[in-house]
Amino acid sequence: MANISKGEGRDQWGSKLGFIMAAAGSAVGLGNLWKFPYVAGKNGGGAFVMVYFIMLFLVGFTLMLAELVLGRHTKLNAIGAYRKISKKWSWVGGLGIATGFMILSYYSVIGGWVIKYLITAVTGGLNVTDAAVLSEMFGSVVSSTGGSIFFHALFMVATLGIVLGGVGGGIEKASKVMMPALFVIIILLAIRGCTLPGAVEGIKYLLVPDFSKLSMGVVLSALGQVFFSLSLGMGCMITYGSYLPDKENIPQSATIIPLLDTGVALLAGLATLPAVFAFGFEPAGGPGLMFETLPAVFASMPMGMMFSTLFFVLVLFAALSSSISLLEVCVSYVVDEYGLNRKIATWGLGFGVFLVGVPSALSFGIWSEVKILFGMNFFDLFDFLTSNVMLPLGGLLLCIFVGWVWGTDKAIDEASNNGQIAFGLSGFWAFLVKFVGPVAISVVFINSLWGFIAG
Ligand code: PHE
Repeated sequence: MANISKGEGRDQWGSKLGFIMAAAGSAVGLGNLWKFPYVAGKNGGGAFVMVYFIMLFLVGFTLMLAELVLGRHTKLNAIGAYRKISKKWSWVGGLGIATGFMILSYYSVIGGWVIKYLITAVTGGLNVTDAAVLSEMFGSVVSSTGGSIFFHALFMVATLGIVLGGVGGGIEKASKVMMPALFVIIILLAIRGCTLPGAVEGIKYLLVPDFSKLSMGVVLSALGQVFFSLSLGMGCMITYGSYLPDKENIPQSATIIPLLDTGVALLAGLATLPAVFAFGFEPAGGPGLMFETLPAVFASMPMGMMFSTLFFVLVLFAALSSSISLLEVCVSYVVDEYGLNRKIATWGLGFGVFLVGVPSALSFGIWSEVKILFGMNFFDLFDFLTSNVMLPLGGLLLCIFVGWVWGTDKAIDEASNNGQIAFGLSGFWAFLVKFVGPVAISVVFINSLWGFIAG
């Protein structure tokens, strides 16, 4: 249950494990299970994975620590945290909250597909091994107008139902049940994927880099994926950090969370890509990859119906443990800054997100030809703007803020609980935040955006 912190009445995580599960729950989500395999597939497999790792080490761990520390130090939402240190910077927190709101609007659309697939799996409708039939099924699920909106609404209701329970009683409790179950199942599925006939092809595709596939676009996608997958660059970890008790060991948590997240992304790749090759799908198949290949794998094995049901339950858990964090970022802001009742804030924001998500829900059906900008429909545009523009920009500004405005000395004091716990790599971390992070992000960002606009 939630403890109330002294004096401030602010919610806190009930236990260390609870916090790790909630933060890993935020990180592990559709980004790992659905997006990572198909983005890797689209961007040349191993080459993408290699760049992903480089970005993870250069900016992933670094920013995870920076966000958690900033959150715990200020004990405020994303805007409040920046403002407490420098008024001029509060808009960066605002950018983050807007990003979270936008991500949730289309995230929930995919969450809706997952609910629909879960129902189909339970009722035996996924017992299909034919790739063509599965592709067609995916097409009809995502293009149905009423269905897409209905399941999008249902997913939002589930999300806000958990957030209404609060930090300890809702988010933490739910994550502590969902995450361990997810870890077990994804391991089982990866083992199954790797033991399929012809699996070697898929494993090679995922792990052996083909350098001819490298381009600035691949590097930006990998960078965007690091931010998206680790829930960084939008104040989510600032908000979760703000509920941390003072004694918590942040450097340790900031190591564990990215490791869990990356582990699950790789396992999801190992569960999916071998099956792609074994069943004759295209690795660059796009957003349908998870929905089309895994059912084929399950249908071809004993107790397939049970496995496919279990799988979609777990995808739903992963999606929910992330969507609640996206909503919490917005709720936390409204509750902190306007003193609004948590219930009203949650319902109001949840409804707003639902409305903004409707055009994304229609982007695979009646509005698929409505191109907003750069020839993209709503869904693609929201995804591109948030993952490849707003999150990296938020991350860049965070580096500059923590490295140069707040200052790494003060951040290190907070990270080490004022010298009470060891933070061996503090000097190296300071170097990464001040120099490597800003330079790496700007170079990738400017280059690829330039390429995008010019090309
Ligand atoms: N990290 C989540 C995922 O991988 C998505 C997310 C992004 C959640 C940003 C919170 C903030 O699915």
